[in-house]
Amino acid sequence: MQSNSLPSTSTETKKRKILVTCALPYANGSIHLGHLLEHIQTDIWVRFQRMRGNETYFVCADDAHGTPIMLKAQELGVTPEEMIAGIRDEHMRDFNDFHISFDNYHSTHSDENKAFAEEIYNKLHAKGHIKTRTISQLYDPEKGMFLPDRFVKGTCPKCKSEDENGDSCDNCGATYSPTEVINPRSVVSGATPVLKDSEHYFFDLPAFEQMLKDWTTGGSLQEEMANKLSEWFDSGLKQWDISRDAPYFGFEIPNAPGKFFYVWLDAPIGYMGSFKNLCDRENIDFDSYWKENSDAELYHFIGKDIIYFHSLFWPAMLEGSGYRKPTSVYAHGFVTVNGAKMSKSKGTFIKGRTYLDHLNPEYLRYYYAAKLTNRIDDLDLNLEDFAQRVNSDLVGKVVNIASRCASFITKRFDGMLSATIDNQALADEVTSAGDRLAELYENREFGKAMREIMALADKVNEYIAVKEPWQLIKDDTKQQEVQDICSLGINLFRTLMIYLKPVLPVLAETTQGFLNNELLWEGHKTLLTSHKINKFKALLQRVDMDKINAMTDASVESLGGEVAKDEKPKKKKAKKEKVTDNSAALADPLGADPIAPEIQFDDFAKIDLRIAKIVKAEHVEGADKLLRLELALDSKENGETRQVFAGIKSAYQPEDLEGKLTVMVANLAPRKMRFGMSEGMVLAAGPGGKDLWIMNPEEGAQPGMKVK
Ligand code: MSP
Ligand code: ZN
Repeated sequence: MQSNSLPSTSTETKKRKILVTCALPYANGSIHLGHLLEHIQTDIWVRFQRMRGNETYFVCADDAHGTPIMLKAQELGVTPEEMIAGIRDEHMRDFNDFHISFDNYHSTHSDENKAFAEEIYNKLHAKGHIKTRTISQLYDPEKGMFLPDRFVKGTCPKCKSEDENGDSCDNCGATYSPTEVINPRSVVSGATPVLKDSEHYFFDLPAFEQMLKDWTTGGSLQEEMANKLSEWFDSGLKQWDISRDAPYFGFEIPNAPGKFFYVWLDAPIGYMGSFKNLCDRENIDFDSYWKENSDAELYHFIGKDIIYFHSLFWPAMLEGSGYRKPTSVYAHGFVTVNGAKMSKSKGTFIKGRTYLDHLNPEYLRYYYAAKLTNRIDDLDLNLEDFAQRVNSDLVGKVVNIASRCASFITKRFDGMLSATIDNQALADEVTSAGDRLAELYENREFGKAMREIMALADKVNEYIAVKEPWQLIKDDTKQQEVQDICSLGINLFRTLMIYLKPVLPVLAETTQGFLNNELLWEGHKTLLTSHKINKFKALLQRVDMDKINAMTDASVESLGGEVAKDEKPKKKKAKKEKVTDNSAALADPLGADPIAPEIQFDDFAKIDLRIAKIVKAEHVEGADKLLRLELALDSKENGETRQVFAGIKSAYQPEDLEGKLTVMVANLAPRKMRFGMSEGMVLAAGPGGKDLWIMNPEEGAQPGMKVK
């Protein structure tokens, strides 16, 4: 089932035409290290294909539609168009700074996408693949809108736990329909939802069952994905609800006033929209990539949470509207940090930008490459291992070869490499690894490729260590030997950098300047003789644990989660779509932290809870969630005060807080954050966003009083 049916990689002469996509990030949040796994994985593969001379295009876009985006814009008091434009700029800057080499980064809220969405829908409709039926759903009478499951909260019908999700209970794990929730309320307005009927449009997925079965078994899907698909076939395909009622931010359905395409209908079509936008700009033949029987290859790189959309709905939509289907869909697992789901309170929910403020993007590119396989397993970013791995492999092995050899060549031999090869057997071993490494890259076995490259680097270092050119240089009769050893060292460093170029494009570029030679894939077979190189400058700094700590400190947000970030059918469906046994896999990186373990009374007694008075509250420049609070711990004029950064900006204006009493943890070890020291925490309750309430003791309580 693995990529047997792919074109061969080693001796091909015909250049392939390849179109590659990453999943489109939602336009209401920042790019984080989870997203970046996907973009880095894809970018490495794309850069490899380009190096091999294949005509490769890499497109992406922001996924701009849907209820959460509409509501978030309302919350911010801007139009959705304004909000998505700002976020798209931010996303593009982030990706660019991680060296993701998109040919185009578009938006699903575009003319091209609207045209394709309408065309595909009209074709499906004409062929009888669109059905309508009236369904009854919870409706927020105050806000005047239907509520997606995750915008309803209430008491669990099974265990009666309060304040649970509209579709699943975090307390007992039950899943249910939002209409079963006891005392339901709308997350948007707090109103009690009512049931209301509305006509919905459905895409007739079951009509495509046979085609999907053929596609699944005939293509080159990952084994885990094929297994997942056969489970879905066994439990029966269902019609897919593709319409949403106004108000909705999206495209209106043709001939259906007030009905909009559900965001997941036009999201994958956004791949076509982005590519079309590129084709129009650069005169590329769109049809030769997308028409039925196209000879181009089409690959979608995605996370395992969205397999259903890409391996069922999307190929069926394409088939039904006369377009080609993907050559393959490649799913990856989820990123965990230090063995756990990314957590805002632990500072392991790390945004791409925060990472860039502290660390070199190529470290992360290398670390992800070193841990990636072509399977759907989760990937743990262990921050200590990260530092150790980068330091030992990149700095200690690869760059070390150059730094050991370069200065002798430049200082003693005027930058000239020898005319002959000192150790042909070693040279052959390193240069002949290219085909095998190409196969590993092609099959997305980046971890294996990195291990092979590092094993070769070890051999080169061993060769230099045994020869000890730093000793020989002292002997006038051994000068030629020194030049030969160091020339081979530099040459093999060059070969290794050719192999690493898809992963480390910037280091490769610096290397090209140093070697005075362009690193081309085919160049791995040859060595440079009688060739002049330039002066060597340190190519890479070691990773410093302090920088990593500063990064996690800057990522700590003491309070406040976020709700309803996106439009994926969450928890309930996600559980059904689970494809590996690792349950951390299901982690919602934006959701709440896990339930805390039971503690003993002693543990509780350690927490010094005090009444505090908020004497000052203000915005923090550059922080989108934090307020800076000054808390008085006694009533005296110049008594003890504490500075606390609290993630409550989404729920409070600073001026509304000043003068209020609240409860704080007074003996929490101070934490250095990007904006200053935080000397405690204030207590608040609620799911987050606007729904967050700080503890507010009754009047009469005095600052400094112990909370019992
Ligand atoms: N907008 C949809 C995709 C539409 S594609 C037609 C979406 N957006 S997302 O922003 O939530 O996720 C974008 C991609 O990032 C998805 O492939 C998702 O799996 C991936 N990841 C999001 N968090 C992740 C991790 N923590 N780890 C690895 N990948 C993660 O889904
Ligand atoms: Zn329950």
